[in-house]
Amino acid sequence: MLLAFDDVGPGPVVVLLHGFSLDRSMWSQQKSSIGAIYRLILPDLRGHGSTAAPEGIYNVDAMADDVLELLDGLQIHEPVVLGGLSMGGYIALSIAARHPERLKALMLINTKASADTPEAATVREQLARQVEAEGDVHSVVATMLPKLFARGTFEHHPEVVTRLQNQMARTPARAVAGTLRGLAIRPDRTDDLKKIQVPTLILAGSEDALIPLDESDLMARQLTGARRVVIPESGHLSPLENPRATDAAILEFLESLW
Ligand code: MLT
Repeated sequence: MLLAFDDVGPGPVVVLLHGFSLDRSMWSQQKSSIGAIYRLILPDLRGHGSTAAPEGIYNVDAMADDVLELLDGLQIHEPVVLGGLSMGGYIALSIAARHPERLKALMLINTKASADTPEAATVREQLARQVEAEGDVHSVVATMLPKLFARGTFEHHPEVVTRLQNQMARTPARAVAGTLRGLAIRPDRTDDLKKIQVPTLILAGSEDALIPLDESDLMARQLTGARRVVIPESGHLSPLENPRATDAAILEFLESLW
């Protein structure tokens, strides 16, 4: 399906995929820093931001195919650097596993390769039903928001929290329910990590309450030669909470590729 997107900057192509119930505006800081040197493609994934929200389950592989369709539409056939935060990382891993020829390098940001536990999948289904019954995403925002940021972000950068809260509240209930159901059935990609041949950067927020540091450690052990950087003073949303350290790690990695 057609995705809304930003396409900014010169140079080699870097694609960044946002997290669940967010949109491409989460990369606004990176748009000016990384987009000054690289050609940044920032899609709004299916159901998010300005992209249409179809009915049904938002399968991670289908969301990945949307991204490849966008690149094809832009005539970008050379391998790209693909990065994704959390859900964006699940989608990036889907592309790495199924279409490795499309990748020059991979950036896994505050994400994991493991699938949902049956308990986690049940919680997602309950939340999906609640959102559908209520017709708005208030309950998802209330459940997720306290877990998204480091303590210091809540204390010292309430404007970042408010911005994200507004972004989440704009995502339609249908899209949130469809995505929750798609995430609940996503495959475990842990075994696929060993097959990844391209340079990989793994970023982890030092205080990420949603994806513990163990998960990125596990990925780093499976992925020979991957570079893992822990971003200080950051919860789940390092690109917003500590853009300086996040951008420095990303730019250093990108420089090492060319
Ligand atoms: C995200 O930030 O994309 C979500 O937390 C991913 C998830 O719920 O597994």
